[in-house]
Amino acid sequence: MSSDVRKIIYGTLVVFVATLVVWIGFLFVLGCQGTLGCSRGSPTPVRTGVATLLPATPVAPVYPASQGAAKCQVQALEVLEAWVNAKSPETEPFAVTDLSGATCTATLQDVESILSQTNLWYSGAAACVTCHNQTFATDAVGLDLSSYEGILAGSHRTADKPTGDDILGGGNWEASKLYQVLVTDATEPFGRPAGLDLTRVVVFAGTPESAPGVTASPSPSPTP
Ligand code: HEC
Repeated sequence: MSSDVRKIIYGTLVVFVATLVVWIGFLFVLGCQGTLGCSRGSPTPVRTGVATLLPATPVAPVYPASQGAAKCQVQALEVLEAWVNAKSPETEPFAVTDLSGATCTATLQDVESILSQTNLWYSGAAACVTCHNQTFATDAVGLDLSSYEGILAGSHRTADKPTGDDILGGGNWEASKLYQVLVTDATEPFGRPAGLDLTRVVVFAGTPESAPGVTASPSPSPTP
Protein backbone atom coordinates (compact mmCIF):
# COMPACT_ATOMS: atom_id res chain seq x y z
CA MET A 1 0.00 0.00 0.00
CA SER A 2 1.44 3.37 -0.90
CA SER A 3 2.02 5.78 1.96
CA ASP A 4 -0.49 8.23 0.48
CA VAL A 5 -3.32 5.75 0.79
CA ARG A 6 -2.20 4.88 4.32
CA LYS A 7 -2.22 8.59 5.22
CA ILE A 8 -5.72 8.96 3.93
CA ILE A 9 -6.93 5.92 5.91
CA TYR A 10 -5.24 7.04 9.15
CA GLY A 11 -6.35 10.61 8.62
CA THR A 12 -9.96 9.52 8.15
CA LEU A 13 -9.79 7.34 11.28
CA VAL A 14 -8.32 10.19 13.37
CA VAL A 15 -10.98 12.64 12.14
CA PHE A 16 -13.69 10.04 12.82
CA VAL A 17 -12.50 9.37 16.38
CA ALA A 18 -12.05 13.11 17.01
CA THR A 19 -15.58 13.84 15.79
CA LEU A 20 -16.90 11.06 18.01
CA VAL A 21 -15.12 12.48 21.08
CA VAL A 22 -16.30 16.03 20.37
CA TRP A 23 -19.89 14.84 19.81
CA ILE A 24 -20.03 12.83 23.03
CA GLY A 25 -18.46 15.70 24.92
CA PHE A 26 -21.00 18.07 23.37
CA LEU A 27 -23.89 15.87 24.53
CA PHE A 28 -22.32 15.45 27.97
CA VAL A 29 -22.06 19.19 28.51
CA LEU A 30 -25.37 20.22 26.93
CA GLY A 31 -27.61 17.28 27.72
CA CYS A 32 -26.17 16.15 31.03
CA GLN A 33 -24.85 19.48 32.24
CA GLY A 34 -21.57 17.85 33.07
CA THR A 35 -23.14 15.23 35.36
CA LEU A 36 -23.88 11.59 34.81
CA GLY A 37 -27.59 12.10 35.73
CA CYS A 38 -28.47 13.51 32.33
CA SER A 39 -31.45 15.47 33.71
CA ARG A 40 -32.18 16.96 30.33
CA GLY A 41 -32.43 13.55 28.85
CA SER A 42 -35.85 12.92 30.41
CA PRO A 43 -38.74 13.25 27.98
CA THR A 44 -40.48 16.63 27.94
CA PRO A 45 -44.17 16.73 28.98
CA VAL A 46 -46.64 16.58 26.14
CA ARG A 47 -47.58 20.10 25.19
CA THR A 48 -50.55 21.32 23.22
CA GLY A 49 -51.11 24.64 21.58
CA VAL A 50 -54.08 25.24 23.91
CA ALA A 51 -53.33 26.58 27.34
CA THR A 52 -54.68 23.99 29.76
CA LEU A 53 -53.68 25.55 33.04
CA LEU A 54 -56.25 28.36 33.09
CA PRO A 55 -58.17 28.49 36.39
CA ALA A 56 -60.86 25.85 35.92
CA THR A 57 -63.31 27.44 38.39
CA PRO A 58 -64.64 30.70 36.92
CA VAL A 59 -65.18 33.34 39.55
CA ALA A 60 -68.93 33.76 40.11
CA PRO A 61 -70.05 37.25 39.10
CA VAL A 62 -71.15 39.42 41.99
CA TYR A 63 -74.02 41.76 41.19
CA PRO A 64 -74.94 44.65 43.41
CA ALA A 65 -78.34 43.95 44.97
CA SER A 66 -79.88 46.87 43.11
CA GLN A 67 -79.01 45.53 39.68
CA GLY A 68 -81.84 44.03 37.66
CA ALA A 69 -79.70 41.19 36.36
CA ALA A 70 -79.58 39.51 39.76
CA LYS A 71 -83.29 39.89 40.42
CA CYS A 72 -85.68 36.99 40.23
CA GLN A 73 -88.76 36.98 38.05
CA VAL A 74 -91.69 36.44 40.34
CA GLN A 75 -95.46 36.77 40.03
CA ALA A 76 -96.55 40.02 41.64
CA LEU A 77 -99.28 38.12 43.53
CA GLU A 78 -96.69 35.65 44.81
CA VAL A 79 -94.63 38.49 46.30
CA LEU A 80 -97.69 39.88 48.09
CA GLU A 81 -98.76 36.41 49.24
CA ALA A 82 -95.32 35.48 50.56
CA TRP A 83 -95.00 38.78 52.39
CA VAL A 84 -98.42 38.51 54.01
CA ASN A 85 -97.85 34.89 55.01
CA ALA A 86 -94.45 35.82 56.44
CA LYS A 87 -96.41 38.11 58.81
CA SER A 88 -95.58 41.23 56.78
CA PRO A 89 -92.02 41.88 57.98
CA GLU A 90 -90.65 45.42 57.77
CA THR A 91 -86.94 44.68 57.69
CA GLU A 92 -86.64 40.89 57.70
CA PRO A 93 -86.26 39.32 54.25
CA PHE A 94 -88.77 36.66 53.24
CA ALA A 95 -88.71 33.81 50.72
CA VAL A 96 -90.56 33.93 47.40
CA THR A 97 -90.71 31.31 44.67
CA ASP A 98 -89.73 32.58 41.25
CA LEU A 99 -91.13 31.50 37.89
CA SER A 100 -88.61 28.67 37.62
CA GLY A 101 -89.53 27.33 41.05
CA ALA A 102 -86.32 28.53 42.69
CA THR A 103 -86.39 30.27 46.04
CA CYS A 104 -85.51 33.95 46.16
CA THR A 105 -85.13 36.37 49.00
CA ALA A 106 -87.39 39.40 48.82
CA THR A 107 -87.88 42.39 51.09
CA LEU A 108 -90.52 44.99 51.90
CA GLN A 109 -89.07 47.14 49.07
CA ASP A 110 -90.31 44.55 46.57
CA VAL A 111 -93.82 44.81 48.01
CA GLU A 112 -93.73 48.61 48.00
CA SER A 113 -92.53 48.69 44.43
CA ILE A 114 -95.51 46.54 43.37
CA LEU A 115 -97.95 48.84 45.15
CA SER A 116 -96.42 51.99 43.68
CA GLN A 117 -95.85 51.01 40.04
CA THR A 118 -97.99 52.39 37.28
CA ASN A 119 -98.75 50.26 34.21
CA LEU A 120 -97.98 47.15 36.22
CA TRP A 121 -101.24 45.22 36.23
CA TYR A 122 -102.27 46.18 32.73
CA SER A 123 -101.37 48.88 30.25
CA GLY A 124 -102.60 52.18 31.61
CA ALA A 125 -103.16 50.91 35.16
CA ALA A 126 -102.78 53.47 37.91
CA ALA A 127 -100.58 52.44 40.82
CA CYS A 128 -102.32 51.27 43.98
CA VAL A 129 -100.82 54.27 45.79
CA THR A 130 -102.31 56.66 43.26
CA CYS A 131 -105.65 56.10 44.99
CA HIS A 132 -104.58 54.73 48.39
CA ASN A 133 -102.11 57.15 49.95
CA GLN A 134 -101.71 59.67 52.77
CA THR A 135 -104.98 61.31 51.76
CA PHE A 136 -106.72 58.18 53.05
CA ALA A 137 -108.93 60.25 55.36
CA THR A 138 -110.82 61.55 52.36
CA ASP A 139 -110.50 58.29 50.37
CA ALA A 140 -113.46 56.02 49.67
CA VAL A 141 -112.03 53.21 51.80
CA GLY A 142 -109.67 55.08 54.14
CA LEU A 143 -106.63 53.13 53.03
CA ASP A 144 -102.98 54.20 52.73
CA LEU A 145 -100.78 51.76 50.84
CA SER A 146 -97.92 54.24 50.43
CA SER A 147 -96.15 53.41 53.69
CA TYR A 148 -95.48 50.38 55.82
CA GLU A 149 -97.44 51.84 58.73
CA GLY A 150 -100.29 52.69 56.38
CA ILE A 151 -100.53 49.14 55.04
CA LEU A 152 -100.56 47.70 58.57
CA ALA A 153 -103.11 50.26 59.75
CA GLY A 154 -105.57 48.88 57.21
CA SER A 155 -108.70 50.27 55.61
CA HIS A 156 -111.69 52.35 56.64
CA ARG A 157 -109.55 54.75 58.59
CA THR A 158 -110.53 58.31 59.22
CA ALA A 159 -108.51 61.20 60.56
CA ASP A 160 -109.64 60.40 64.11
CA LYS A 161 -109.42 56.61 63.69
CA PRO A 162 -105.75 55.72 63.11
CA THR A 163 -106.29 51.96 63.06
CA GLY A 164 -108.71 50.54 60.54
CA ASP A 165 -109.66 47.08 59.35
CA ASP A 166 -106.80 44.64 58.83
CA ILE A 167 -106.27 44.01 55.12
CA LEU A 168 -103.61 41.33 55.69
CA GLY A 169 -105.85 38.59 57.09
CA GLY A 170 -103.81 38.43 60.27
CA GLY A 171 -100.94 36.93 58.30
CA ASN A 172 -103.03 34.55 56.20
CA TRP A 173 -103.03 35.57 52.53
CA GLU A 174 -106.17 33.73 51.50
CA ALA A 175 -108.11 35.19 54.40
CA SER A 176 -106.88 38.73 53.68
CA LYS A 177 -108.82 41.66 52.25
CA LEU A 178 -106.00 42.08 49.71
CA TYR A 179 -106.60 38.56 48.41
CA GLN A 180 -110.32 39.17 48.36
CA VAL A 181 -110.16 42.34 46.27
CA LEU A 182 -107.36 41.17 43.98
CA VAL A 183 -108.33 37.53 43.44
CA THR A 184 -111.75 36.48 44.77
CA ASP A 185 -113.78 39.58 43.95
CA ALA A 186 -111.31 40.77 41.30
CA THR A 187 -112.30 44.39 41.89
CA GLU A 188 -108.81 45.84 42.39
CA PRO A 189 -106.89 47.56 40.96
CA PHE A 190 -110.06 49.62 40.80
CA GLY A 191 -111.33 50.04 37.25
CA ARG A 192 -109.51 46.99 35.97
CA PRO A 193 -110.57 45.54 32.64
CA ALA A 194 -112.84 42.50 32.78
CA GLY A 195 -111.07 39.19 32.38
CA LEU A 196 -107.72 40.51 33.60
CA ASP A 197 -105.51 37.64 34.74
CA LEU A 198 -103.33 38.93 37.58
CA THR A 199 -101.33 35.72 37.75
CA ARG A 200 -99.67 36.76 34.50
CA VAL A 201 -98.27 39.90 36.09
CA VAL A 202 -94.59 39.23 36.71
CA VAL A 203 -92.09 41.54 38.38
CA PHE A 204 -88.37 41.52 39.03
CA ALA A 205 -88.19 41.02 42.77
CA GLY A 206 -85.88 39.49 45.33
CA THR A 207 -82.45 38.07 44.74
CA PRO A 208 -81.50 34.45 44.11
CA GLU A 209 -80.69 32.61 47.32
CA SER A 210 -77.30 31.51 46.02
CA ALA A 211 -75.10 33.55 43.75
CA PRO A 212 -75.74 32.87 40.07
CA GLY A 213 -73.06 31.07 38.09
CA VAL A 214 -71.92 27.53 37.55
CA THR A 215 -69.80 26.05 40.28
CA ALA A 216 -67.30 23.88 38.47
CA SER A 217 -65.99 20.84 40.25
CA PRO A 218 -62.29 21.13 40.98
CA SER A 219 -60.27 19.99 38.00
CA PRO A 220 -57.88 17.09 38.46
CA SER A 221 -54.38 18.36 39.01
CA PRO A 222 -52.37 18.21 35.79
CA THR A 223 -50.07 15.23 35.59
CA PRO A 224 -46.47 16.25 35.21
C1 HEC B 1 -108.28 54.12 40.58
C2 HEC B 1 -108.17 54.16 42.02
C3 HEC B 1 -107.75 52.88 42.69
C4 HEC B 1 -106.67 52.11 42.41
C5 HEC B 1 -105.60 52.31 41.34
C6 HEC B 1 -106.67 51.04 43.37
N1 HEC B 1 -107.77 51.15 44.19
FE1 HEC B 1 -108.20 49.97 45.76
N2 HEC B 1 -109.97 50.86 45.95
C7 HEC B 1 -110.39 51.95 45.24
C8 HEC B 1 -111.77 52.20 45.56
C9 HEC B 1 -112.60 53.30 44.95
C10 HEC B 1 -112.15 51.22 46.47
C11 HEC B 1 -113.51 51.01 47.07
C12 HEC B 1 -114.23 50.06 46.16
C13 HEC B 1 -115.54 49.66 46.66
O1 HEC B 1 -115.87 49.93 47.80
O2 HEC B 1 -116.24 49.04 45.85
C14 HEC B 1 -110.99 50.41 46.73
C15 HEC B 1 -110.95 49.35 47.62
C16 HEC B 1 -109.81 48.66 47.95
C17 HEC B 1 -109.70 47.70 49.02
C18 HEC B 1 -110.79 47.28 49.93
C19 HEC B 1 -110.68 47.92 51.29
C20 HEC B 1 -111.83 47.51 52.16
O3 HEC B 1 -111.57 47.25 53.32
O4 HEC B 1 -112.96 47.45 51.66
C21 HEC B 1 -108.42 47.25 49.01
C22 HEC B 1 -107.80 46.24 49.96
C23 HEC B 1 -107.75 47.90 47.91
N3 HEC B 1 -108.60 48.77 47.30
C24 HEC B 1 -106.46 47.64 47.54
C25 HEC B 1 -105.91 48.09 46.36
C26 HEC B 1 -104.69 47.58 45.78
C27 HEC B 1 -103.82 46.50 46.41
C28 HEC B 1 -104.51 48.23 44.62
C29 HEC B 1 -103.40 48.00 43.60
C30 HEC B 1 -103.33 46.67 43.08
C31 HEC B 1 -105.58 49.17 44.48
N4 HEC B 1 -106.43 49.04 45.54
C32 HEC B 1 -105.72 50.05 43.42
C33 HEC B 1 -109.63 52.69 44.36
C34 HEC B 1 -108.46 52.25 43.79
